[in-house]
Amino acid sequence: MDDLSTIRSEALDAVGKAADLAALDAVRVAALGKKGSVTGLMKTLGGMAPDQRREFGAQVNQLKGEIEAALDARKTTLGSAALAAKLVSEKIDVSLPTRPDFGQAGHGTLHPIGQVMDEVAAIFGEMGFTWAEGPDIEDDWHNFSALNIPPDHPARQMQDTFYLPSRADGTPMVLRTHTSPVQARTMLNKDVQKMLAYGGALRIIVPGRTFRIDNDATHTPMFHQVEGLVIDRTTHMGHLKGCLVDFCRAFFEVDDLPLRFRPSYFPFTEPSAEVDIGCSWKGGELKIGAGDSWLEILGSGMVHPNVIANCGLDPAVYQGFAFGMGVDRIAMLKYGIPDLRNFFDSDLRWLRHYGFSTLESVR
Ligand code: DAH
Repeated sequence: MDDLSTIRSEALDAVGKAADLAALDAVRVAALGKKGSVTGLMKTLGGMAPDQRREFGAQVNQLKGEIEAALDARKTTLGSAALAAKLVSEKIDVSLPTRPDFGQAGHGTLHPIGQVMDEVAAIFGEMGFTWAEGPDIEDDWHNFSALNIPPDHPARQMQDTFYLPSRADGTPMVLRTHTSPVQARTMLNKDVQKMLAYGGALRIIVPGRTFRIDNDATHTPMFHQVEGLVIDRTTHMGHLKGCLVDFCRAFFEVDDLPLRFRPSYFPFTEPSAEVDIGCSWKGGELKIGAGDSWLEILGSGMVHPNVIANCGLDPAVYQGFAFGMGVDRIAMLKYGIPDLRNFFDSDLRWLRHYGFSTLESVR
């Protein structure tokens, strides 16, 4: 009996004094562990007479229950104290302003070219176009011949081409002068041809880098284009017009933006049209919208039957339209950026001024 009350008071005292969870666990082991004091009492039960065992057993069980309850209660107290201490030590003040130098040194912006490509992709994406790409280093056939520009064709002189050394097999190579070769690459794709055979429609935009020997305030040797291509069995010039009117109005954010489709010539389209948008130059400042001037912004047309045939499709079955525009040019026009060459200077002051917030999502 004495044992019981001594063990009880010692154990409960130790529980109360345990300063942390590790100390508390040591108390538990000392009382209830394999070699613990209460476990020791249990072991004496075996040598007792049945009546005594019943009575003493009940008392030991009660003691065990009391100690367990005390351990649990202390554990809860210590646990929440530990959590509270952790929360205090790990506290972050999210309302603190960033260090003053952070915005200068560590805060990047999106380049206008990437921003405009995303804007263009978002608008055509809503019309059902997908994004396609092709190589910057292109072979002469995809860049020219496939697009109905044979070797001696004067149209090759329209584009001042960077010629590269031929491949080992003699294939003449160029830095692509436009994104149009991706039209050919896509139409030649067997999966695309299968999809068309099943009655599907091909609708792609092709944003990418292009290269020409040219360098002044509005031309750089490397620049960017977005190509567009729609191929199915029924798409006609009216669709081309509607699509480009909707695009230009959405892109320039002018609902009644006037557009002019001017007859033109490209070897890969027939008929061909260049597209101008309305603008005014009041006080020397460009304003896009109704006015007395026009700005040329893209080339377009119905894909030439020769191109469709060159790409392994039957021009008696398939037809569609294509267009191509300069990304840099429409970025300059939309955001009032005067000189194209600055786009590629990597001048942080320019980038901070004309760049876009990474947090600003497109549409
Ligand atoms: N490839 C032409 C260029 O770089 C632009 C172009 C015009 C693309 C008409 C087209 C098109 O797809 O139909 O000047």
